[in-house]
Amino acid sequence: MIRFWLYLFFVLACLSFWEPVETRRARYKPEPPKPKKTETQKAIDTLAPGQNINIDQMSGKWHLLTVASRCKNLLESGFKTESTSLTWNITADTVTVGTVRKLNFVCWEIKQNYMKTKTPGQLFLKGKRPSDNVDIMVLETDYSTYAMLVFKRAEKITMKLYGRSGEVPDNIVDKFEDRAKTFNLGLDVVFQFPDYGFCESAEKVLDLT
Ligand SMILES: *[C@@H]1O[C@H](CO)[C@@H](O)[C@H](O)[C@H]1NC(C)=O
Repeated sequence: MIRFWLYLFFVLACLSFWEPVETRRARYKPEPPKPKKTETQKAIDTLAPGQNINIDQMSGKWHLLTVASRCKNLLESGFKTESTSLTWNITADTVTVGTVRKLNFVCWEIKQNYMKTKTPGQLFLKGKRPSDNVDIMVLETDYSTYAMLVFKRAEKITMKLYGRSGEVPDNIVDKFEDRAKTFNLGLDVVFQFPDYGFCESAEKVLDLT
């Protein structure tokens, strides 16, 4: 049972971005040179949602197709990419997201509230501590086929590709992979999720709203 909770924690930590903070290397340098901004950092600094995104049109059901993420715990905990679906219920100022996926043969629904922000196409997920806050940006969507999202937490980027069905056009997949590369998320950390074997309904609910 402990193993299960540990596993659930790892999956949540990565999928919901409560990543443990990486230990910083304490190395003494007498005169540290001004660090040059890397291309990745520049891409993160200039990150913004796509233009004219209307979040309200994203309501309803999505399939999680692809995730690009460097979450070490995820990789080391024997993580399996189980088919995952999301339901976006949208009100005037929040998006309630229900994520349904299997964990240990049980269908779980994890409910979270993303707050709308003044920026169109941008949402906010409040963490327990300020460093756990997540900015969620919709980079691109046609509302009826695909949506490309970025989750930014403490300068760390995770990208997700949602589809209304199990498939999106190849050019969208290519765009997703190209964009992921700009955040230093190469194909080695791009995970495809199966588009079969979805949970019909949730047996257990984890309500984080
Ligand atoms: C979304 O709304 C439907 C219909 O009101 C409800 O059954 C479902 O539980 C809601 N899902 C979430 C994640 O709030």
